[in-house]
Amino acid sequence: MDRIHITDVSPRDGLQNQPLHVSTDGKLGLIQRLVQAGVQSVEATSFVSPKAVPQMADASEVVAGALQRFPALRCSVLVPNLKGLERAHAAGAREIAVVLSATETMNLKNINMGLTQATEVSEQTLHAARALGMKTRAYVAVAFECPFEGLTPAARVIELSERMHAAQADEIVIADTIGATGPAQVRELVRLLASSLPLETLAMHFHDTRGMGVANAWAALENGIRRFDASVGGIGGCPFAPGAAGNVATEDLVLLAQGAGLHTGIDLMGLLDAVEHAETLLQRSLGGRSSAWLRRQKAKMASAA
Ligand code: COA
Ligand code: ZN
Repeated sequence: MDRIHITDVSPRDGLQNQPLHVSTDGKLGLIQRLVQAGVQSVEATSFVSPKAVPQMADASEVVAGALQRFPALRCSVLVPNLKGLERAHAAGAREIAVVLSATETMNLKNINMGLTQATEVSEQTLHAARALGMKTRAYVAVAFECPFEGLTPAARVIELSERMHAAQADEIVIADTIGATGPAQVRELVRLLASSLPLETLAMHFHDTRGMGVANAWAALENGIRRFDASVGGIGGCPFAPGAAGNVATEDLVLLAQGAGLHTGIDLMGLLDAVEHAETLLQRSLGGRSSAWLRRQKAKMASAA
């Protein structure tokens, strides 16, 4: 069966902007439940300045703990610069993601570099990571719309994606960081990207700010994309991008894939356990658009048993 690859980014994108502090054990518990649900790839944490993102201060412990418990897990970590790469490598990480935004202002707000410098630093970091034998992802963030500069020109996204491809990023992650796009724009950008880059290297990263996450994923699927980021329970958002809500929920994406006859290897009831764990950690109710229905299914199964 045709399959889609999902990277669950909840331990990183999901937790980075939460007001409550989550312990290292709590984060490892979340990763454990994702693995138990069949998730094969996660973004575990980020090696950024703990002053900028205090929630990610335990990055070394999280990645070391996750790889020790789950040696076969694809466990990516976000690094904004060479210092982040150094820290990630020392902690045992085998896969990194660099974060390049497609506009000048978003790069300045996020990583305190302009677009030119951010592009060069991303290239250097990708080269250095490959020299260390690591796998690599490259985000192209605010690929559709920037909270500071408005609509992002597609030509710029294509140019930056090509540069990340030339720098040998294994996966290029096109991110709708603030969840502002719609299916027609997704189709258009995927078609343009596919004319200059191998489709199998492209991944899509949607946020569900306006309820368009699943529709956007469908537009990408129909145009050949098979790699997606998602966050269990739909938690997430960038602290430096005003108005960004959570990612498209992993459970919603898995349900979409199932409906389309695509294999994910992920079990929906297992994801519900991960949602419930995240609810305990964050002390509020969470869940994608399908989660109320999933909870009813779970209750029915329990009463039938
Ligand atoms: N990890 C930890 N500390 C880091 C670091 C990293 N990857 N990169 C730099 N630092 C430290 C420096 O050592 C220095 O520490 P000091 O003040 O104790 O001497 C301090 O941060 C400032 O270094 P500088 O190179 O001047 O960085 P900056 O102030 O320009 O900040 C970033 C740049 C990238 C480190 C910072 O903007 C950042 O961490 N942003 C987070 C982005 C993010 O996570 N966004 C959400 C996900 S997309
Ligand atoms: Zn995101």
